[in-house]
Amino acid sequence: MPVVHQTQEVRSLLAPARAAGKQIGLVLTMGALHEGHLSLVRAAKLECDYVVATIFVNPTQFDADDDLERYPRNTTADCAQLEQLGVDLIFAPATQEVYPDGFTTTIDPPAVAARLEGKHRPGHFRGVATVVLKFFHMAPADIAYFGNKDYQQTLVVQHMVRDLNLPIQIRCCPTVRDPDGLALSSRNQILSTSQRTQAQVISHSLNHAQQLVSSGERDAKAIKNAMQKILSTHGISRIDYIAIADSKTLEEVAQIEDATIVLIAAYIGQTRLIDNQLLTLC
Ligand code: PAJ
Repeated sequence: MPVVHQTQEVRSLLAPARAAGKQIGLVLTMGALHEGHLSLVRAAKLECDYVVATIFVNPTQFDADDDLERYPRNTTADCAQLEQLGVDLIFAPATQEVYPDGFTTTIDPPAVAARLEGKHRPGHFRGVATVVLKFFHMAPADIAYFGNKDYQQTLVVQHMVRDLNLPIQIRCCPTVRDPDGLALSSRNQILSTSQRTQAQVISHSLNHAQQLVSSGERDAKAIKNAMQKILSTHGISRIDYIAIADSKTLEEVAQIEDATIVLIAAYIGQTRLIDNQLLTLC
């Protein structure tokens, strides 16, 4: 399985697959791979004839330098896992390849980027949208796979594809969790054992929201208060947001209706984690 670092190499390797009419799948990652990432690769393998995975820790989507520094990196183990799943090509460009000297052009992300993550991490989705569009050009594919774990990011990408008429389909894959409910994230690797235990409470609070809805609660404020109480009882007090929103627009709602989603961003120590759950009415 080739591991390449230059755009030109990716294009030359993809050209014969494209000429042969193969369906090309693309999985974009920042490495430090876990089962969440691998689930996207498996989905791509099931549907596509040729699968490209990328590994690139994108500096422009990090807001604080220390977060970028602390981001886990493990390219050797990542490549071994991708090879085992039968990925056809790995593209792991250097920063200079993605952001050449003099780089100034960026994507103004779609409106859905302004809320939640966008509010708390100014510039984050500009960085995400820009790098995703770049990869769509550097490694042209038919279908790209994204995880619902980063629900708003997936919406941002979907809206960008629609708004800019990009010739690629976007698939949204379910969140993979540890047995205790914690959504897999590369950032989980930097949690201490006690922080890891505390982190489970985030998904428990989401489950509690669903339980309240299942027992008839429809008031978003009451649900958010109940979640906040669970989190603070377990020592999670630095919360960027708990939002109950329309799942298409991410506009916050006062009452739970069909297609409502609950999203959360909270700190466990220095580590910022996000999670979400679609709420079902019955
Ligand atoms: P990264 O955090 O490495 O995630 C890469 C892809 O894996 C994203 O589509 C993300 O939603 C998905 N993913 C992460 N955890 C998951 C889980 N537990 N279950 C299912 N899917 C999961 O997201 C990024 O990188 C970057 O922003 C990127 C899109 C690569 C642009 O730099």
